[in-house]
Amino acid sequence: AAVAQRLTSLRRQPRISEQLQLVKARMRSGLDAGLRSKSSSTIKMLPSFVYLTPDGTERGKYLALDLGGTNFRALLVRFKKQTSRLYHKIYTIPLEIMQGTGEELFDHLAQCVCDFLDYMGLKNTRLPAGFTFSFPCEQSAIDTGTLVAWTKGFKATDSEGHDVVSMLREAIKRRNDIDLDIVALINDTVGTMMSCAHEDQRCEIGMIAGTGTNLCYMEELKNIEKIEQRMCINTEWGGLGDDGCLDDIITLYDTEVDQNSINQGKQRFEKMTSGMYLGEVVRQVLLDLTRRGLLFKGHVSETLKTPGIFETKYLSQIESDRLALLQVRSILQQLGLHGTCHDSIIVKHVCLVVSRRAAQLCGAGMAAVVDKIRENRGLDHLDIAVGVDGSLYKLHPHFSQVLKETVRVMAPQCDVTFQPSEEGSGKGAALIAAVARRKRDV
Ligand code: BG6
Ligand code: GLC
Repeated sequence: AAVAQRLTSLRRQPRISEQLQLVKARMRSGLDAGLRSKSSSTIKMLPSFVYLTPDGTERGKYLALDLGGTNFRALLVRFKKQTSRLYHKIYTIPLEIMQGTGEELFDHLAQCVCDFLDYMGLKNTRLPAGFTFSFPCEQSAIDTGTLVAWTKGFKATDSEGHDVVSMLREAIKRRNDIDLDIVALINDTVGTMMSCAHEDQRCEIGMIAGTGTNLCYMEELKNIEKIEQRMCINTEWGGLGDDGCLDDIITLYDTEVDQNSINQGKQRFEKMTSGMYLGEVVRQVLLDLTRRGLLFKGHVSETLKTPGIFETKYLSQIESDRLALLQVRSILQQLGLHGTCHDSIIVKHVCLVVSRRAAQLCGAGMAAVVDKIRENRGLDHLDIAVGVDGSLYKLHPHFSQVLKETVRVMAPQCDVTFQPSEEGSGKGAALIAAVARRKRDV
């Protein structure tokens, strides 16, 4: 009972609808404010300069470079009449590179590209490339974008305020052994939407629930530039709450997580909903329960004090319905957290509450977006598909179900189909490169 009492601040029931409706309303105001003026909104609503979804006529060989949440992927995508073939290689980004200098980071990316071209036997060709860069960029065209601010674990110096395409081109020039024609810069949400739109024309939203969280959708240009056309907008919805508008639902645990992060006060919504932070929220709750003598016999171990011990993959494992309690206990033991079976029940419960809240918050945000699209188009009913990717969505045992259920309840006038992306946003980047090149060549 004492544990349940401590968790009421995180649990949305029975006030589920009331609090989530507030989140939905605030997300909606943030989206509208961001469209009116970027400077007055925490939701950036960045134009992507992607107007079209693919039409199936894309052909040829393209390179896609994908700097996402956890890895860098280099891909070669070949579009044929009815099919596409994809080859890829994954490269890790060491922490010292993520937080070193911008030059070092882009030199590292260029090194990975060179290795990939070498591996594919394409070192002497000049392929058109799409660059998926999963951070907020202010774009003025499809092939250029200034990094607004790093998010997630990145903090490379001398990059914010710089054009990331130029930084990559310069890194390639410094090497002087490969050549690339970078024709498109895109966010991972946009790539995911494009890749799913290739299979299903109803797909006009892209969502990532992974290390970070974000969403893009096709907005009417008449709401921006008074033109009868649609452009994909990268919302950067992870910034909701940076002006304090979520303070009434933010808990002490969230505040702790924010204070210990490298971007304090920023990405408050992201810090309650995405893989990079959920484990930390769980750890903060466990610390509190232990200090109150309700867990681990009141013994606050060094392990429990260690930031980052709970990665999303452990959350996913602990919450799996197929796991017996003894197995949960053994996962905790492997992490260095030694407790009784009763402790394991409590830890599992904390994980469930934290991840359920994350999925419900994303659901409330999604409900705001689909209702906005429906109203934009003057419809009573909207049928729409969402391309979705990210480790939290794909690997967590309950996140996707709770997300869908929340959207169903909170946006009753919309039929929302979630389509997990099969090939990541890399294929989308290649498609956008194909469309961009087609336009350039016309
Ligand atoms: C990948 C996409 O599949 O998912 C990336 O290709 C994206 O572009 C990533 O950033 C998000 O997942 P995570 O869990 O690595 O953040
Ligand atoms: C962060 C980034 C955003 C990206 C998201 C998912 O929120 O700012 O650009 O789309 O993570 O990877």
